[in-house]
Amino acid sequence: MRITIVGGGYVGLVSGACFAALGAVVTIVEVDQGRFTALREGRMPIYEPGLEALVATSRTAGRLAFADSIEEVADTDMVFLAVGTPSRRGDGHADLTYVFEAAEQVAAALTKPVVLVTKSTVPVGTGRRLAELMALRRPDLAVSVASNPEFLREGCAIDDFMQPDRIVIGSDSATATAMLCELYAPLTVKGARLLATGLETAEMIKYAANSFLAMKIAFINEMADMCEKLGAEIGDIATGLGLDHRIGPQFLQAGPGFGGSCFPKDTQAMVRIAQDAGAPSRLVETVVAVNEARKAAMSSRIIAACGGVVRGKRIAILGLTFKPDTDDIRDSPALGIIHRLVDEGAMVSAYDPMGCNHARFQLPSRVNFCEDSQQALQGADALIIVTEWNEFKMLDPVAIHQAMRGHVVVDLRNIFHGPTMRAAGLVYYGIGSAPSPLDVRAEAETQRLSYAG
Ligand code: UGA
Repeated sequence: MRITIVGGGYVGLVSGACFAALGAVVTIVEVDQGRFTALREGRMPIYEPGLEALVATSRTAGRLAFADSIEEVADTDMVFLAVGTPSRRGDGHADLTYVFEAAEQVAAALTKPVVLVTKSTVPVGTGRRLAELMALRRPDLAVSVASNPEFLREGCAIDDFMQPDRIVIGSDSATATAMLCELYAPLTVKGARLLATGLETAEMIKYAANSFLAMKIAFINEMADMCEKLGAEIGDIATGLGLDHRIGPQFLQAGPGFGGSCFPKDTQAMVRIAQDAGAPSRLVETVVAVNEARKAAMSSRIIAACGGVVRGKRIAILGLTFKPDTDDIRDSPALGIIHRLVDEGAMVSAYDPMGCNHARFQLPSRVNFCEDSQQALQGADALIIVTEWNEFKMLDPVAIHQAMRGHVVVDLRNIFHGPTMRAAGLVYYGIGSAPSPLDVRAEAETQRLSYAG
């Protein structure tokens, strides 16, 4: 089967490389010349474990190619739209400009009937609008439209593609559904569950899934706040909840609030979709508000742990990306935290294994970007863990204590063991457990000194 994927971004690249690995002949169209050239030369514009090797293998096998214009790929059986659908400035609706621009170009370039598939996350009803557009522009061709949402997590996208929990195909066209089933046959024969639905249903499953997962995170974060007041332990609460099969253990890790290119954008869009449909979602509206408030509250928590004042203090930030194993910093909680700390007069030294290059463009020039954790920690008054990269989990508490000038550690991902950190002489604050009496005393002492000073 010959397929074309419009958009060589995160979703397009991963899906294209995986479809090629499953046996399809794939062309990925990337109109951005910089990205296109990089891809042609075998360089990945994003960091995703295993992607570069998978792309290289499929190219060598002659099943994956890149093009910089849609016209070059008119002879295709299926076209996947995998362009960006960012939040529209001001109102939170998904911006469909790229989707419809791409669809217009596809319509102009087609020479034979195709199946047009949306992989991008598009509001419910978009597939129907695309079908109308195709019928208008190309009444001479039978173009059937389908929705095939992606459920790939950054950092483990290839595994998510190859071992999916489910494959969702939504279309009113039997031809489109049959062709997509054939494309995914190498996965379904191995037991992957495929769910065929109507167009609108498939579009909605994607938003519902992301909203539900975001809601789970917002919920556990609220529980963490309660734990801090009530003396309960959030890790044990999450385990106790997750052991119930109806709840499940995933996405119950309390933290600084969800970020990334999907949850913040998709929950906002879901709110708009629901309002426009006349069926407002109070739950998702609350999830959006709770998460925004949580991200903002993290910097106040850090400032409080530093004795109420950060002016002139050296603060080491470990982790800039919104999660580990990616170089993506979009909507990362680290950004807001660092902006606030710098505004309040702190001297920030930041390190991230993959995120520094992108972060440089989004953070104040006063931020000192470091080569490694050790450099960031040197002479710091406080250490803040924002992203749970594995290499941070390996840090030795005694070495942390020795490298720092002060002793405050705020661990927004609970990667360290509180008692071990305290035994090393650190004043340790995790998420979702009552502060230890030792830390409360240390905090009071720091405050007394900072007021006295
Ligand atoms: C998310 C979904 O998990 C994917 O299924 C979906 O395909 C993708 O969005 C998308 O729509 O394209 P992703 O944004 O890569 O994937 O990352 P997640 O692993 O879902 O994490 C999102 C955010 O939630 C991160 O900031 C992460 O730190 C946070 N999170 C996640 C928590 O705070 N606690 C958790 O227990 C899990």
